[in-house]
Amino acid sequence: MTKGTWKDMETVRFTDTLTMDRIIHGHWRLLEWKLSKEELLKFIESVIEIGVKTVDTADIYGGYSCEEAFGDALKLKKGLREKMTIVTKCGIMVPNKNRPQIESHLYDLTRKHIIKSAERSLKNLGTDYLDLLLIHRPSPFMDPAEVSQAFRELYESGKVRNFGVSNFKPSQFDLLSAYVDYPLVTNQVEISPLHLKVFQDGTIDNLMMKRITPMAWSPLAGGDIINGVKDREVNVRNTLLAIGEKYGEERLDTLVYAFLLSHPARICPIVGSGKLNRIQNAIDALKIKFNSEEWLTVYKASLEKSLP
Ligand SMILES: NC(=O)c1ccc[n+]([C@@H]2O[C@H](COP(=O)([O-])OP(=O)(O)OC[C@H]3O[C@@H](n4cnc5c(N)ncnc54)[C@H](OP(=O)(O)O)[C@@H]3O)[C@@H](O)[C@H]2O)c1
Repeated sequence: MTKGTWKDMETVRFTDTLTMDRIIHGHWRLLEWKLSKEELLKFIESVIEIGVKTVDTADIYGGYSCEEAFGDALKLKKGLREKMTIVTKCGIMVPNKNRPQIESHLYDLTRKHIIKSAERSLKNLGTDYLDLLLIHRPSPFMDPAEVSQAFRELYESGKVRNFGVSNFKPSQFDLLSAYVDYPLVTNQVEISPLHLKVFQDGTIDNLMMKRITPMAWSPLAGGDIINGVKDREVNVRNTLLAIGEKYGEERLDTLVYAFLLSHPARICPIVGSGKLNRIQNAIDALKIKFNSEEWLTVYKASLEKSLP
C-alpha cells in the first residue's frame, strides 16, 4: 500500500461557498496534544501539506478554549485561515470556569445565543467569517423560526456562510429544514463500525434522499476500535483485518476509514488524532473501496447477529 499525497485528497462541494475535504481534522482533543501555539501552527501546516484543509471544532471543546488555541496559532501565519475551511458549532451549555454564568448542562438554541456564540467563535478564531456553523445538538425546546432568524442575521452580515446540524434525528432535521432560508448542508453524526445506528434509524436514508453529505464523528469510536477488548470490538477488528489482507493493508485505522468512505452516502470522516501519521492513514483509505460483501461482513460483525 503506497502512501497517498495531497493530490489524492477528494473534496465534496456542498454549496457555492463550501467545499470540504473528504477527510476532515477534528479539534475536540486539541488540548491533549499539548502543543505551544508555534507547535500547533507547525502541526496545522503539516496537516494541510498532506491534504487536509478542513477543520471541525466547537465553542465548547476543551472547556470553551480549543477555538481560541486554534485561533492563536492561525494568527501567527497571515493568509493561512483563508486556505482553510472552518466548521464550528454552538448550542450546548456546559458549566465551566470559562463560562461562570452557565449553572447547568443545558441547550440554548435561542436567536440571541446562536448569534452571540457565532460572534464569540469569530473572535476566538481571529476570523471574520465561519465557513459552516452547526447546531451541535437538537433541543426538545427548539423553536425553528428562532433558529432560522439567527441564521438569517448571521448570513446577511457575512459572518456565517453555511449552516447545518449535528446529532439530529431525521424528523428534527426535516423540522428545521422546513423553516430555514438556507439549506442545511450536513448532519454531523456518530458513525464507526461500532456505532451503526444511523444506518438503522433513517438518518442516512434521509440524508441520501436529499443528496446531503454526512460528516462522521468519532470514526474510530474514540480509539475503542483499536484498543477495545470486548468480544464485539475484537470481532469487528478481526473482520476488518481479514478484509485488509485482500488489499495488502494491515493498518486497522485505514481499514476503518475505508469502511466509512466506501459507503454510497459519501461520508466525510472527522479524524480526531493529534498525530500526523494517523491522519495520513485516513487519507490512504481513499484508495480502498470495500464492495457490498465486505461492507456487510463488517456490519454483521458489529450487529453480532445474522441479517434478517
Ligand atoms: N458533533 C459531535 O457531537 C461530536 C462529538 C464528538 C466528536 N466530534 C468531532 O469528531 C472528531 C473526532 O472525534 P474523536 O476524536 O472521538 O475521533 P476518533 O478518531 O474516533 O478518536 C480519536 C482518538 O483515538 C486515538 N487514535 C487514533 N488513531 C489511533 C490509532 N491508530 N491507535 C490508537 N489510538 C488511536 C486518538 O489518539 P491520538 O491523538 O494519540 O492519535 C484519539 O484519542 C472530534 O475532534 C470532533 O471534531 C463531534
